[in-house]
Amino acid sequence: RRIDLLGVATASGASVRGCGMGPEALRVAGLAEALIDLGHEVADHGDLRRPAPAIDAGPASLRLPDARRADVLDLAERASDQGLAILEAGNFPVFLGGDHSIAMGTVSAVARHCVTKGKPVFVLWIDAHADYNTPETSPSGNLHGMPLALLCGEPEFDDSYRGDWLGRIDPRNVTVIGARSVDREERRLLASRGVEVLDMRKIDELGVVALMRTVIERVRKAGGHLHVSLDVDAMDPSIAPGGGTLVPGGLSYREAHLIMEMLHDSGVAGSLDVVELNPFLDHGGQSATLLVDLVASLFGRQIMGEEPGPMAFVTEDE
Ligand code: ARG
Ligand code: MN
Ligand code: MN
Ligand code: MN
Repeated sequence: RRIDLLGVATASGASVRGCGMGPEALRVAGLAEALIDLGHEVADHGDLRRPAPAIDAGPASLRLPDARRADVLDLAERASDQGLAILEAGNFPVFLGGDHSIAMGTVSAVARHCVTKGKPVFVLWIDAHADYNTPETSPSGNLHGMPLALLCGEPEFDDSYRGDWLGRIDPRNVTVIGARSVDREERRLLASRGVEVLDMRKIDELGVVALMRTVIERVRKAGGHLHVSLDVDAMDPSIAPGGGTLVPGGLSYREAHLIMEMLHDSGVAGSLDVVELNPFLDHGGQSATLLVDLVASLFGRQIMGEEPGPMAFVTEDE
């Protein structure tokens, strides 16, 4: 199955700038080359971007400025449409962020694709945050803290957030893993909608293996499609400094790889986001390189055993 890369170069959902450069940093860190080396066919669709991204010129206190929202929603629509085309062609989309608001579009693509196949969608949100705020509950007004709430159909989004591009997922099929910073009202929403939150305490107590087994089993039993959304801040800041919303006490290098390795062996993953990488804050490519290695683990890199060997690179100019 071909792997199709699609960058969404934006930071309009975040308050810290720089993650719009994420797709390019992931390329420089050798993402396509790593996948090709594992025997995969890879196509790179380049980046979606706004010709002139929002400039923060208004009052600093302004929550959720219209220009930023327009960026986020335009890119979400385009990511949804192009992601859908990638999935319909039978390929595995890897979306390169960009801040986490791009998942409004990427997960929508998956939901639209799977609804026609009658396949239930499951989401594994690997993140220090739950990104389940609404415009009402959000303390910051930043849209990268809201994608899951929009996708799960929370009613507090006005009609500007909706369109034929928006897909819908069931909150009971969403698992957040790695969480350690969840806002108070956000916690209430997550609990009342039945989102599974495997926070750092659960990881400490039960370990990644036991937790991931149950996640994978649930998807497998339902014959579902698993979308994996990997936020760089899920990992501990000591190994992944390149993010704008870092929180101490994150996934270790080995825990993060084990999650990816278990996903690979399970075969249930059908799409992936790699988001929030901020090359401006990264330390000499450390976080970009870590993310590339984690994606390689998801696509079959292992310490021992046979790997198929290098494949071809396809340039896609659609
Ligand atoms: N919960 C906070 C907020 O709503 C932080 C969200 C951070 N999200 C992210 N994708 N890094 O503003
Ligand atoms: Mn996030
Ligand atoms: Mn986060
Ligand atoms: Mn449309």
